[in-house]
Amino acid sequence: SAAEKGGYDWFMLKEIEEQPQAVADTLLGRLTDSGEIMLDEVRLSDQDLRDVDKIFIVACGTAYHSGLVAKYAIEHWTRIPCEVELASEFRYRDPVLDRSTLIVVISQSGETMDTLMALRHAKEQKARVLAICNTNGSTIPRESDAVLYTHGGPEIAVASTKAFLTQLVACYLIGLHLAQVRGIKFADEVAAVVDQLHQMPGKLRELLSRIEPVRELARQIKSEPTVLFIGRHVGYPVALEGALKLKELAYMHAEGFAAGELKHGPIALIDKGTPVICIVPSPVGRGVLHDKVVSNIQEVRARGARTIVIAEEGDESVVRYADDLIYVPRTPTLLAPLVTTVPLQVLAAEIAAARGHDVDQPRNLAKSVTVE
Ligand code: G6P
Repeated sequence: SAAEKGGYDWFMLKEIEEQPQAVADTLLGRLTDSGEIMLDEVRLSDQDLRDVDKIFIVACGTAYHSGLVAKYAIEHWTRIPCEVELASEFRYRDPVLDRSTLIVVISQSGETMDTLMALRHAKEQKARVLAICNTNGSTIPRESDAVLYTHGGPEIAVASTKAFLTQLVACYLIGLHLAQVRGIKFADEVAAVVDQLHQMPGKLRELLSRIEPVRELARQIKSEPTVLFIGRHVGYPVALEGALKLKELAYMHAEGFAAGELKHGPIALIDKGTPVICIVPSPVGRGVLHDKVVSNIQEVRARGARTIVIAEEGDESVVRYADDLIYVPRTPTLLAPLVTTVPLQVLAAEIAAARGHDVDQPRNLAKSVTVE
């Protein structure tokens, strides 16, 4: 009913607006007085976590994209090699697992069959399993050795939004926890990142308060035959997530690419007016990365693309190459997906609505897929 949707036309739009609160709730109470990150249920000792020599993140769909982002943060903070794999592929290739392998499974519902089967396979091989989940008492956390719940609240729309942002937060917390247990990061360093995370709800509110131009943009590009997304580093999984949202909701052809791969094939797709959504990293800290993406924007524009640029507030360098420019609040690079994803969610929902589709219940999809 309209009341359940809190005045929004679609649950998805309501859930997008709930993201600042969902992020705040997921952070709440995670840091002890002595500056340690707390998990919800831990049937693993600190020694078990110190013994970890390899991490696999396993998930499906949007949760898989949160895992792709997590890899950058976890490897950077813990120096433990970390791979990300689709649950439906993981167990069939006979991965090398043992007691010192940590499997991080990510699932909003906690019931996705592919993810559950990957988890069971990992446990048979004696690997330790840590779950990130939004649904208390669901199967995946019950069968895992440790759990960190995302406190996103119920997510009704099939396309995941607030669950994705809270999964990112949970992944950051797990990366920090591991780094802390292993003596790589200390209480004050962890507290500094957690403090940056605590600033996110405010930044998200600010971003959502001036999202209107994205809706206008959606109306302009709603009939395009194809939309491309490019990014580097953590912007690459954001590009994949933006494209997935558009496929799921608008039934449009959309693809995400690592910007550096453009020249190895995808650039041939660009025609006059093809919208290319470019996720630009912060110019602060990782300037090389930023400049590389800016030159990719110039390359696609020279081939006729309509460049839709998502960049950090105050980044003037992109102005002259952007046909459309969406600024997001400043954030440290690793945390940027928390803000850069949001305009892409709004864009997909608005395009779907403009094309007359059911935004909450796209055709052929289910919220929770309990078959393999
Ligand atoms: C389904 C949903 C996706 C979701 C995926 C994984 O395909 O349509 O939105 O990302 O399942 O779901 P999970 O509950 O495991 O996160």
